[in-house]
Amino acid sequence: MPDPHWNDALRTGHLGLDLKHKRLAQCLENVLAAQRDGKSGAIVDQLLLGLWKATEVHFAEEEELMRRVAYPHIERHVSAHRRIIQILSHKMEAYQDISCDVGSAARAFHAWFTNHTVEDDAELGAYISGEHASPQTEQVSGA
Ligand SMILES: [Fe+2]
Repeated sequence: MPDPHWNDALRTGHLGLDLKHKRLAQCLENVLAAQRDGKSGAIVDQLLLGLWKATEVHFAEEEELMRRVAYPHIERHVSAHRRIIQILSHKMEAYQDISCDVGSAARAFHAWFTNHTVEDDAELGAYISGEHASPQTEQVSGA
């Protein structure tokens, strides 16, 4: 089972992104805790669906942030989001068809979260917080 806990290796260098990522990590932790604690299938389903929706919303918010700061690698980053959404869509369909269990679905979320966060999102965080930071980008730090 993946370790869903937040750790410093997942920091992007941008406080707003890190706060959003911590919330997603908490959603994943809630899914795994519900399963571990023997909560009903309906509750686990609801929490996993919540994580899925939160991921979609987070990607949309992050893409809006990239547009606002004129992030030069936006196309590559958005493509990465699309690939992740495709993988997670397949996994969620498999979960709903009962052809994969919650642990398998959770591992898919954990994989994107750890890989994408430390690579693509860290690059975005460094861009926003670095030399390209301006009063305008500071206003979106909560995004
Ligand atoms: Fe991202």
